[in-house]
Amino acid sequence: MTFRKVLITGAQGQLGQALQAQFSDHEAIAWDIQDLDICELEAVRKALDKIRPDVVLNAAAFTQVDQAETDQEAAYRGNALGPKNLALATHEMSIPFMHFSTDYVFDGRQSRPYHEFDQPHPLSVYGQSKLAGEKEVKNANPRHFLVRTAWLYHIVGKNFPRTILRLSRQQQVRVVNDQFGSPTFAPHLARAVARLLETDAYGTYHLAGSGGTSWYDFTNTLYQARGIQTPVSPISTADYPLPAPRPAYAVLTSLQDPFITLPSWEEGVRDFAAQWKGEDS
Ligand SMILES: NC(=O)c1ccc[n+]([C@@H]2O[C@H](COP(=O)([O-])OP(=O)(O)OC[C@H]3O[C@@H](n4cnc5c(N)ncnc54)[C@H](OP(=O)(O)O)[C@@H]3O)[C@@H](O)[C@H]2O)c1
Repeated sequence: MTFRKVLITGAQGQLGQALQAQFSDHEAIAWDIQDLDICELEAVRKALDKIRPDVVLNAAAFTQVDQAETDQEAAYRGNALGPKNLALATHEMSIPFMHFSTDYVFDGRQSRPYHEFDQPHPLSVYGQSKLAGEKEVKNANPRHFLVRTAWLYHIVGKNFPRTILRLSRQQQVRVVNDQFGSPTFAPHLARAVARLLETDAYGTYHLAGSGGTSWYDFTNTLYQARGIQTPVSPISTADYPLPAPRPAYAVLTSLQDPFITLPSWEEGVRDFAAQWKGEDS
């Protein structure tokens, strides 16, 4: 696909900011909720009609996984209704649409990495709402790229590495050692998105940092990269109860072209550590 004008929704989020940087040499229109609430269908239609982008990348979502358990309506609005509106409006105007989903659509009971054709079975409201969004997007616009990613982080926004760096001022840090996933550095994802958009190969893709790890090993690797000496103790999920259940093993892999394979999660940590300008504690 060749495109010039790209609309990014949810542009102030972690992924939204990485996409803005990635497409800075395009005509990128970056909107967040104050510019366009994707839950308002008529507003979405009007906005798209006015700017007529060549492609829409939806980085907007309700991402508060634990809050979703009690605020189900907000989760379904942000993660299912919003993407449905964008998919409907883009289809009406013959615009390709890229949407993002999550490893949390899987239950994590598998013992090998999840590929695109594995059966989703979400454990949490967040995962259920994201799966509902996937279905709406597939139904509403056949020219869709549905990209599942995982454990996303960036040098901006709210995420695990930034929290765990802040906690390193403590005497010791306790981190869960029995949940496995694919940490994904947002700029690496944005680069893979750019490669995927060069194709017209619509469909579902797993794009996440290659390889898998636990939150515990992720922490140790990050601390090592930043020269932090704070001891890290492994704990179990049961020692750190949270409202939303997480999949125990949700490493993502792709059965599709290696040209969109992301760098390893360790390279993600290295790039994050090199770009991180904040204080560690
Ligand atoms: N973060 C992860 O670990 C992770 C893992 C797997 C998949 N994903 C998926 O990756 C995508 C990007 O995640 P992210 O971490 O970059 O999210 P994020 O940092 O939370 O950013 C989401 C952005 O969307 C905005 N937004 C929320 N509701 C909106 C609405 N109705 N209309 C327009 N904008 C709205 C948010 O604004 P407010 O901040 O004002 O609400 C925020 O700026 C999402 O689809 C997410 O489900 C994320």
